[in-house]
Amino acid sequence: MRNPFKFGTIVEDEYFTDRTRELQTILRVMNSENHLILISPRRFGKSSLVIKATKQVARPYLLLNLQSVINTQDFAAKILKGIFKLYTWEKVKHLMTHFHFVPTISTNPITNGIDVSFQPTSDSNVLLEDAMALLEKVSTPEKRLIVIFDEFQEILQIAKGLDKHLRAIMQTQKGLNYILLGSQESMMTEIFERKKSPFYHFGLLMRLNKIPFQDFFDYVNERLSNVLPGQSDPISNEILSLTNCHPYYTQQLASQVWELAKYENISDDVVNVAIERLVDIHDLDFERLWLKFNRMDKQILRILCKNENPLQNRQLPTSSSFSSIKRLMKMGYVIRDKKYEIEDPFFKQWIVNNQL
Ligand SMILES: Nc1ncnc2c1ncn2[C@@H]1O[C@H](COP(=O)(O)OP(=O)(O)OP(=O)(O)O)[C@@H](O)[C@H]1O
Ligand SMILES: [Mg+2]
Repeated sequence: MRNPFKFGTIVEDEYFTDRTRELQTILRVMNSENHLILISPRRFGKSSLVIKATKQVARPYLLLNLQSVINTQDFAAKILKGIFKLYTWEKVKHLMTHFHFVPTISTNPITNGIDVSFQPTSDSNVLLEDAMALLEKVSTPEKRLIVIFDEFQEILQIAKGLDKHLRAIMQTQKGLNYILLGSQESMMTEIFERKKSPFYHFGLLMRLNKIPFQDFFDYVNERLSNVLPGQSDPISNEILSLTNCHPYYTQQLASQVWELAKYENISDDVVNVAIERLVDIHDLDFERLWLKFNRMDKQILRILCKNENPLQNRQLPTSSSFSSIKRLMKMGYVIRDKKYEIEDPFFKQWIVNNQL
């Protein structure tokens, strides 16, 4: 029997749960001329959800993570690479006659993929315009192309004025759906909600939450009941209360519990044993990480370990607590669900074990 839990990569089919309402909304956007902006902290399930939706509509999609883009020229090259992966050269070559600069296209025998490069002197904004225009040309009314830009907030770092330029191109395009994903809440909000931003109200903005307790409970419980008969109810409850229903960490912890029960016959205190194993594995990383935080950050993290609100702590000045929380959130170590919490429950446990 295979481990019925999966974490770290995109989940589909039997590993995917809930998100029915969100899926319907995304499908509606994809079946319209509109675009979607999807925001959540890291590993809440953005990619899995969007890939599920694109598969349901059975249309081609091009996915590009902007974290891997180093400059505007590279952005253009990566869009073209994505297009060449999706469509045959026979189809694409006739559509490239508008190009101002002819790219060099070669096959890479090591990756088995296609490489795209440009003359070093080419104007990178023009390269981007050409590549973006090709997206529109390869898309057809029957199989409208879906373009997904992941970690979209990176647009602000890649090149100065790129957001403005990109928006100018995108707003005239037809026959495409853009899905813009991002995990940095504050930057994404800045891009799409600030009146002066070029992307102000560009599409439907959706925030993805954790998976609701009852649904996730049923998912975990059903999968644990084989290896922990008669005990899976309280154990599933314990797992979810420790992970706070975080999609990734819940799957990770449940997976570890399943392994211990199945292969080591451990059932007593199995959740704590699983947590200690996972904390052990990451001990060195957590220690290194801890050393990087300044004193204020460490204090905030300690307070969060006690499930208290750092902003109500009388010993710390609210303004410095607030800027520390903001910084920790930006780096992804703290998230805000209903309250502020440490993102990684295993790091939290490590702090409890070693630093309280
Ligand atoms: N609908 C779901 N049902 C069950 N588990 C899920 C679901 N969505 C996400 N997960 C869990 O969370 C993990 C991360 O999912 P995914 O990669 O889709 O998230 P993400 O928000 O795109 O992450 P990242 O910020 O790293 O890009 C998955 O590997 C899986 O363990
Ligand atoms: Mg993702």
